[in-house]
Amino acid sequence: MTDAKAQDRVVIFDTTLRDGEQSPGATMSLEEKLQIAGLLDEMGVDIIEAGFPIASEGDFEAVSRIAQMAQSAVICGLARADFRDIDRCWEAVKHAKRPRIHTFIGTSPLHRAIPNLDMDQMAERIHATVSHARNLCDNVQWSPMDATRTEHDYLCRVVEIAIKAGATTINIPDTVGYTAPRESADLIRMLIEKVPGADEVVFATHCHNDLGMATANALAAVEAGARQIECTINGLGERAGNTALEEVVMAMKVRNDIMPYRTGIDTSKIMQASRLVATVSGFPVQFNKAIVGKNAFAHESGIHQDGMLKNAETFEIMRPEDVGLNATSLVMGKHSGRAALRSKLAELGYAVGDNQLRDVFVRFKELADRKKEVYDDDLIALMQDTDTHA
Ligand code: KIV
Ligand code: ZN
Repeated sequence: MTDAKAQDRVVIFDTTLRDGEQSPGATMSLEEKLQIAGLLDEMGVDIIEAGFPIASEGDFEAVSRIAQMAQSAVICGLARADFRDIDRCWEAVKHAKRPRIHTFIGTSPLHRAIPNLDMDQMAERIHATVSHARNLCDNVQWSPMDATRTEHDYLCRVVEIAIKAGATTINIPDTVGYTAPRESADLIRMLIEKVPGADEVVFATHCHNDLGMATANALAAVEAGARQIECTINGLGERAGNTALEEVVMAMKVRNDIMPYRTGIDTSKIMQASRLVATVSGFPVQFNKAIVGKNAFAHESGIHQDGMLKNAETFEIMRPEDVGLNATSLVMGKHSGRAALRSKLAELGYAVGDNQLRDVFVRFKELADRKKEVYDDDLIALMQDTDTHA
């Protein structure tokens, strides 16, 4: 039994450098990809999908260099169901200590129409290409693209063929972000129950976020037996993006009471990874993004700030240090109360008595009504002004 098949261990497969980079405008240079891969490896990502080697010389080079560099992660490359693609992928990943070939084909009616293959012809192609990949590498992942819109009988049939041909991981992509949590779970459960040989492989979930359900769909799939989550840092990915690594990892950590699964991720590196990917891709993280947004650990309202000063657990379900942030930030604005102002002033080196606080608080509120956010420098100026007028 591999680690991924241990009851509670969920393998994290990061595809920031492949599916993430497919976001229009997110192209990254070789140096940037090496930097991201180095950090993913260091933070405990189990599998790094480093690129699509046949797509370009640049992708080939990036996958080969990452394969040579990786210390512990499995390095995976993507290939279509085509011998040339698979050979090129193997040429790039074979340098890794632990290489993987990931080959895929669209199995839904809409996708079958593109190469103009009927069901039997496609089944033959799957058998031939997965066998070919397995002859090159003992770690082969196979994906029926658009699985969530594929007829169930046909999906069972092709998954069985891929397993017989030697696939070791079966990934079930929700390519267009169409599924919903219950359906995502039912699909994985159905495959595990019906497909002969299913207990010999790891099932993976690969969700897109078109309806905003990628995280929920991935976690539902895990509850039904999937043991690999495919995801990206900051949820970077085509259209509305992919499942966000930081969300699934922190969800399983914070709510381990109801989702008793573990990953190998060092969560204290999450912020660093988020900032690096945002900078390199040029895709800023939205302020209110779960886990890594600028406001995820920031509090402005007086009631919240007061609660936080007394006991952080009143308004925070995880500690900022858990994701690599130094501290919660109490943002000073028009909703802030006296307790937060006093604490902020103390932080800036001003110990104020009750009378002075009353005076400063009135002037602080006037300022906060004019400005969205009151910065430390504004408070220092306010205090200097107060000293002059005292
Ligand atoms: O979304 C998808 O179907 C994919 C496959 C290539 C796995 O990214
Ligand atoms: Zn995808």
